[in-house]
Order: sequence, then structure tokens, then C-alpha cells
Amino acid sequence: MTTHSATPIIAIDGTAASGKGTLARRLAEALGFAYLDTGTLYRKVAVDVLAAGGDPGDADTAIQAAQNLQKNLDLQSLKDPAIRTAQAGKYASVVAAVPGVRSALTDLQRGFATHPPALADGTPAKGAILDGRDITTFICPDAPVKFYVDAAVETRAGRRHKELLGNGEAIEFEQVLEDMKIRDARDMGRKDAPMTIAPDAVVIDTTSLGVEAVVALAMDHVRKTLPNA
Ligand code: CDP
Repeated sequence: MTTHSATPIIAIDGTAASGKGTLARRLAEALGFAYLDTGTLYRKVAVDVLAAGGDPGDADTAIQAAQNLQKNLDLQSLKDPAIRTAQAGKYASVVAAVPGVRSALTDLQRGFATHPPALADGTPAKGAILDGRDITTFICPDAPVKFYVDAAVETRAGRRHKELLGNGEAIEFEQVLEDMKIRDARDMGRKDAPMTIAPDAVVIDTTSLGVEAVVALAMDHVRKTLPNA
């Protein structure tokens, strides 16, 4: 495995809209770690294929786009609002089921984990946090801190619905709920790196926990496991 390094790594996996991104961002800020939302990579592959008029369901097209992204990755491009739409999320999970897409993005993610980039203010990162679906199990299986974040599907759909409406996307709650169930099933059922709970992951259910409570719980575990962070 290539994830052995002196860099402290926090690996977070979890279901869609479970709050893993919020947790990762808050831990990264508190600890001075660099943060990579790996879902944005799959979303970007899907959006790049769609923007070129391609079919994200075509494996070869998706693999080509992932290889291009891996070669020319600009971390700023992952902040493009176009990757946050419901359509981008849906097709992200379609391209993510293609083994060639996953393998094209593996080194990039492990490279970020072992050699995190400097923070926005130019200071060196003290560690790396990555979140996604296979970070604790495949990308960084040796990470000393692992979390698996989940919540009831209706709660997650409600959060995602609010977020999409806030971004100006007109979509019904029922549609978001339906899409989320399909996506969960695809992410957990795919052959290559399906989403599972790592045996050594701390499981956090955010259904009835507020952000501050989740951050406090996670931080407590980080302080015990990485006392120097
Ligand atoms: O934000 P949300 O939780 O809806 O999803 P995301 O983290 O942006 O990921 C979008 C999709 O990319 C997921 O549904 C997965 O299919 C895929 N993904 C993956 O396969 N592996 C990862 N490490 C991250 C995302």
C-alpha cells in the first residue's frame, strides 16, 4: 500500500448528504489539515463528459475523461458550481462504478493524502483529510483516524433538497429521495470498491445530531488518536 507516510491522515466515508463534507471541512479548519472532497473528482468527470456532449454511461468515454482530469487537475476547477447539481451527482455515481475511472483517480487521491498541498494562506498543511466512499477501505486503508458518517435516508434527502433549492435548482423532495436511494444502492452494490464500513471506523449517525455535536464527537476521537495534531 502506498499510503504509509509521516503525514497524519483522516479518512472519512459515508452516504450522500450524510454530513461527511461538513465534518471534514470543520476538522480540516480546526487542525490545519488540507481537505479533499473526493466526490468532486467523480462529479467533475461526469460534468466534463456531459459538457463535451458525451454519454457518462459509456465506460470508455468516462475513463478518458478521468485520465484527462488526473493529468491536468486544477483543484480550483473542483469548486465549479456546475458540479453540485442533482444531475452531476447522479452521473458521478454512474462513472464511479467504472473500474477504469476509479483506477485513473487512485494515485491522485493517495498523492494528496501523503503530500497534501499548502493551505489557502500558504502555510504547509499539518495533515490530510479525504472524504468519499472508499477512502477508509481502499484509498487510505492505513489512515490512523477513520470515520463512517450516515443518517436516515429521508433526513439526507431533506438536507440535499434544501441545498439544491438554495443553489436555484427547482426539484421536488420526492425526486431527491428517489435519486438518493438509487445512488446509495449503486454505491454499495458496485463490484469495484463498494462503499462498506471499515472495521476500525468510528460510525457517526447524524440523523438527530447537530453539526457542533458531530464535530465535538469526532474531535474527541482525533485528539485521542493523534495527540500531536
Ligand atoms: O455529496 P454527495 O454525498 O452527494 O456525493 P459526493 O461525495 O459528491 O459523491 C458523488 C458520487 O461519487 C457518489 O455517489 C459515488 O458514486 C462517487 N464517489 C465514489 O465512488 N468514491 C468516492 N471516493 C467519492 C465519491
